[in-house]
Amino acid sequence: MTGSNSPSAPTPTGTGTEQVEVPYNHRHLLGIQGLVPREITGLLDLADSYVGLSRQVDKKRPLLKGRTLINLFFEPSTRTQASFELAGKRLGADTVNMSVRTSSVTKGETLIDTAVTLNAMRPDILIVRHNSSGAVDLLAQKVDCAVVNAGDGSNEHPTQALLDALTIRRRFGRIEGLTVAICGDVRHSRVARSNIHLLSAMGARIRLIGPPTLLPPSAERLGAEVFTDMREGLKGVDIVMMLRLQSERMEGNYLPSLREFYHLYGLDREKFDYANPGAVIMHPGPMNRGVEIESALADDPEISLIQEQVEMGVAVRMSVLDVLSRRLPNGGPKQ
Ligand code: NCD
Repeated sequence: MTGSNSPSAPTPTGTGTEQVEVPYNHRHLLGIQGLVPREITGLLDLADSYVGLSRQVDKKRPLLKGRTLINLFFEPSTRTQASFELAGKRLGADTVNMSVRTSSVTKGETLIDTAVTLNAMRPDILIVRHNSSGAVDLLAQKVDCAVVNAGDGSNEHPTQALLDALTIRRRFGRIEGLTVAICGDVRHSRVARSNIHLLSAMGARIRLIGPPTLLPPSAERLGAEVFTDMREGLKGVDIVMMLRLQSERMEGNYLPSLREFYHLYGLDREKFDYANPGAVIMHPGPMNRGVEIESALADDPEISLIQEQVEMGVAVRMSVLDVLSRRLPNGGPKQ
């Protein structure tokens, strides 16, 4: 693979038994920002090789045998937690899930205390989701194991951007040159932020569409075109990425009403028709049907990649766990 922004054709769906070299030079995966295109491409190529494995009856390849993986989620999660758990298990690791409520104790204390306690149990990889931006970075500095950011506040959600990229690459055969519209609550979305970093690194054009109150102040600095009119913004795009309203991160009033939001920014057939022929719809989930997206569109298998995104989530997380484990003490390719 090259280190350029060249279009990256997907490798054929493999069975995870091929040895894919990945030029990844970090101990952790804390964000997409800071990764170079060849690292991203490497992770995606390896993930592609795991798609076939997950479609087999025997889905296991014991690369992480003997390793301990802890899922530490300070925020609710369905697909991210489940897919990290499955990814760990498919690679043969012992996987433990911990859900932590942040309510009663000060966040800083809880986080550091928990990190130090878990560290003493000698895990190899910690998967962490936290409601404060920067918390996972902080935690990574306190532990000896590899850390994966499974979402920190409104900052980053790197494995979501990677699984979105894999889904796009498998559908279009490339990322470079595509136009992607990220729509709705961009301001509070870590999914948007990680996708903006990844898609721009890989040569896609990015549009951000939403009400002015829900667009990030730095939108143009991020290299994206900004639209407050959904129809205008959707003209000629290849991918429409919808986002959930992150009400848990909103203090105050960002919207007149949900009805008004759906009317202006909810994706329905009429608005979707402004996109390019062959355009597709993506959504990281969880979806609020009738708020940011019409049910019929979300469930249309011709245009919706939402279920494919979930499938790619497991493959991408297997890839990330595999690559990080290679850099652990005593890590390295095992056959
Ligand atoms: C996203 C998240 O947690 O940031 N969900 C996910 O991981 N698939 C998006 C969201 O919560 O809206």
